[in-house]
Amino acid sequence: MSLLEVRGVMVRFGGVMAVGGVDLDAEVGQVTGLIGPNGAGKTTLFNVISGMQEPTAGQVFVSGVDITREAPHRRAKRGLARTFQRLELFSSLTVRDNVRVAAELAAVPDVDGTVDTLLDKVGLSHLAASVAGDLPTGSARLVEIARALATMPRLLLLDEPASGLDDSETERLGGLLRELAADGLGVLLVEHDMDLVMHVCDRIHVLDLGNIIAVGTPNEIQHDDAVLQAYLGTS
Ligand SMILES: Nc1ncnc2c1ncn2[C@@H]1O[C@H](COP(=O)(O)OP(=O)(O)OP(=O)(O)O)[C@@H](O)[C@H]1O
Ligand SMILES: [Mg+2]
Repeated sequence: MSLLEVRGVMVRFGGVMAVGGVDLDAEVGQVTGLIGPNGAGKTTLFNVISGMQEPTAGQVFVSGVDITREAPHRRAKRGLARTFQRLELFSSLTVRDNVRVAAELAAVPDVDGTVDTLLDKVGLSHLAASVAGDLPTGSARLVEIARALATMPRLLLLDEPASGLDDSETERLGGLLRELAADGLGVLLVEHDMDLVMHVCDRIHVLDLGNIIAVGTPNEIQHDDAVLQAYLGTS
């Protein structure tokens, strides 16, 4: 049994089939990639997994439990956490307090210790007292990850975490994702930065126009004809 099992998930918005019946698995201790061209349905699928979008059909299982109809806060209790494609921080709070709020909501045993550990883990200890709204995008994205981690998730969903990051920040992010996997987390990564995806993912699912067109290792995906066609638009 996988940590996350998505089975036959379909999302229709009026006449648009955003997600067309998708199967996807994410495992403990692995970084699973979800890639695809703009509008492929990646964020919509994330919304279904995190409970922000009801699927037209299909199921989502976490550790074998059907959570398809559960509210987002119930899923958080089961160990699901996510970040957003558009940053969603409390802009007037400090970095420390952004992470603290999540740790308090999750009722972790040692809030201060947890916040310190997480800020250190994402390399933001020196910015703990900075106001989140003043941060450059790269740092803000790391705060969002620290905040998601403060709920002590088993599965972390990241929607384009490298967007707005420079090369060294992206490299640091890659190291962090491998570390989280080594710690035993499952990570599901939506990302357009192919260099990052190919370096950190154990397995990759490719979505195109709402359908999975390939699943495999980075090496397999890089040599897959259907994937090349979807990205290059050739036929
Ligand atoms: N709330 C909505 N109402 C109607 N259509 C929507 C809605 N959300 C998404 N869509 C449509 O569903 C499709 C999938 O969008 P989605 O945002 O999931 O793609 P994506 O793979 O995350 O794209 P990107 O890489 O640009 O972030 C698109 O055609 C989009 O226009
Ligand atoms: Mg998206």
